Amino acid sequence: MNIGLLGFGVVGRGVYDILAGRDDIRVRTVLCRRDLGALTCAATRDMQDILDDPGIDTVVEVMGGLEPAYAYVSAALAAGKHVVTSNKQLLCRYYKELTALAKANGVTLRGTAAVGGGIPWLTNLEKAARVNRISSVGGILNGTTNFIMDAMHKGDVEFGDVLRRAQELGYAEADPSADIDGWDIQRKLIISASVAFGVCLREEDVPVFGIRSVSAADIRRFRQRGYTCKLIARAERLEDSVAAYVEPTLLAAGALESAVPANFNLVSMEGEYMGRQSFYGQGAGRYPTAYNVVQDLMDIAGGKAGFYTDSFAPCETNNAGALHRYYVRTTAACPELDAAAQEDWDGAVVTLPVSVAHMHALLPRLLEADPESFIAAVQGGGRDAEGC
Ligand code: HSE
Repeated sequence: MNIGLLGFGVVGRGVYDILAGRDDIRVRTVLCRRDLGALTCAATRDMQDILDDPGIDTVVEVMGGLEPAYAYVSAALAAGKHVVTSNKQLLCRYYKELTALAKANGVTLRGTAAVGGGIPWLTNLEKAARVNRISSVGGILNGTTNFIMDAMHKGDVEFGDVLRRAQELGYAEADPSADIDGWDIQRKLIISASVAFGVCLREEDVPVFGIRSVSAADIRRFRQRGYTCKLIARAERLEDSVAAYVEPTLLAAGALESAVPANFNLVSMEGEYMGRQSFYGQGAGRYPTAYNVVQDLMDIAGGKAGFYTDSFAPCETNNAGALHRYYVRTTAACPELDAAAQEDWDGAVVTLPVSVAHMHALLPRLLEADPESFIAAVQGGGRDAEGC
């Protein structure tokens, strides 16, 4: 197998290193805009060199972003080359188009590293869905936000200070918005739901609330009552639709998710025969992510065909039946919230069960009046309840 490697950043360099010295899979050409110095393969700035090279049978896309990644991956599939990508934004937005293109050209598209970095999540989800009807997927799918929440529970520290520390340690990006506002985890959830349920969800239909406004005082309230707060993604199969959302969630101290430290991920699926299975590990980083890229290459080299699922039915998202109690801390005046308030948590309220759809519909109003508002779903009953 001969590779055209698109991108030579953190993950690209990791793929190059892992493949160095192997003779079954070789990097033949690297595409990169920078001067890369001495390499054991060719380097180019022109994608056409890779498309025109009949010796390159597989393209690895680790550039990230939508363009030119979408144009390059489409061209590679159309040219009859297999593609492995770690690009969750690309797979999430163009899942249907890219899988159709791969199918039309008789080539394979894989993207295991796009969700969960080094965790073999999508490959096991694919296997599980062959035998089980998967009823739900989700969990902690973002290392940056888990690092921040973990640090805030372990010390009485404010969000901004922990974020700066995460950036210094290289866990958080210079622009951390996609992580802390929940868009990164939303994309991973959509790809997971696609594989688990054989559906296509639209990004604009999956509501997201991140952790940007969480405060040390919020965390003190949670800890006093035996809860741990994590940013959780969840998708659940319904009769004709899917419930899917991303929101901070208060978990009982005994829940598996509550114990996830630092920048680790924990992602779970439930199936009718296997019950619940959870996968824990490094969801990001050079070598964990590159490891799953190379695993995909091995699968293709071993003859694995197609994508993770053949079914791409467009599907409605319906969060009207997903009922949670919500912790709400806001100074915004909101009669609907007053009517639903059930418990006073000394500076915040906890509501009666309300639907995810209703709570996320109220959020723009709360945030407009008080941009520091924070909400979290309350799962179960504090010290005694179970996890997601
Ligand atoms: N920024 C992501 C995280 C890694 O913190 O988990 C890439 O998906």
